[in-house]
Amino acid sequence: MKRIAVLTSGGDAPGMNAAIRAVTRTAISSGVDVIGVRRGFAGLIDADFIPLGPRQVAGKIEVGGTFLESARCPEFKTEEGQKTALRNLETYVIDGVIVIGGNGSQTGAHALSKLGIPVNGVASTIDNDLAGSDSCIGVDTALNTALDAIDKLRTTASSHHRLFIVEVMGRDCGYLALTVGVAGGAEVIVAPEFDLSPDEVVRRVHKARERGKMHAIIVVAEGCVNRAQEIYAALKADIGAGFDPRLTIIGHVQRGGAPTAFDRLIATRLGARACELLLAGEHGNLIGFVNGKATPTPYSEVTGHKKPLPEDLIKLIETMSI
Ligand code: ADP
Ligand code: F6P
Repeated sequence: MKRIAVLTSGGDAPGMNAAIRAVTRTAISSGVDVIGVRRGFAGLIDADFIPLGPRQVAGKIEVGGTFLESARCPEFKTEEGQKTALRNLETYVIDGVIVIGGNGSQTGAHALSKLGIPVNGVASTIDNDLAGSDSCIGVDTALNTALDAIDKLRTTASSHHRLFIVEVMGRDCGYLALTVGVAGGAEVIVAPEFDLSPDEVVRRVHKARERGKMHAIIVVAEGCVNRAQEIYAALKADIGAGFDPRLTIIGHVQRGGAPTAFDRLIATRLGARACELLLAGEHGNLIGFVNGKATPTPYSEVTGHKKPLPEDLIKLIETMSI
């Protein structure tokens, strides 16, 4: 291999820059040129390429988001879009591609790999919904950002005997809700994997009140579409619950900010390993963080597979909120 490309796709995640840096410096150290593709698969279709060297990735490890920029690109889901991308890879004599991104992006990378392009993926999404990675780049930062918000909301909740319903991101996966809920001491957690009706949440709030709780935090995953609003309406209508509810949607704040040390470290390890394997002729894999190591998993075992949530944490929710 003489020249490889690297791109970031889908939702940005803190640590993507550290992964680009790791890919670039690993390739250059082996005498291989690196092309940065701007705006994910859209840049592959438009041939929006920039050369990357060690200095172009300097001063980036501590910066959130992605300096290559990211995009959702519906055109890449079409045969025509993928063919245009293939033509550009040929024209610019690019021998392999590294795709840094989440579930959708890795499905796109898998498609490219099935067309015969050497591709490796790097697991990066705050949703943590990728089979083949215990933790994806960005999850730790997003979790700590959401936790900070919940800790701050608890200040007012306890001062005013209030109940806060907090909606967190994760698309259709409840990982962020589960982990931030347990870490933030939530009284109730609602996620697609263990959904609760608004009536059941109200019942649990009554019970918490009977046990002497004077304020409460309820974490709801965005994947339970409208559930946060429904719970808010049910509690507002239920004077008997005795709390004055408020609804907070944390939103894109969770995708922003400087990556934590953990995310910088896994980004460096996953990016470097994805590149080493690609240069060694091993491709068609997602490189994820498994049992503390950067580990390749064939795309056939990643895309279309659902990653289960940690069962032990789900079991602890009720006990920890008595
Ligand atoms: P994420 O990677 O964060 O999960 P998306 O699901 O939006 O984000 O996917 C990012 C991009 O990946 C899409 O805009 C599209 O370009 C590409 N992609 C997603 N699914 C497919 C697919 N089935 N085939 C080809 N490309 C896909
Ligand atoms: O995949 C990351 C994510 O932030 C999800 O948690 C969320 O559902 C989605 O992206 C939001 O997408 P957008 O930034 O396009 O609104």
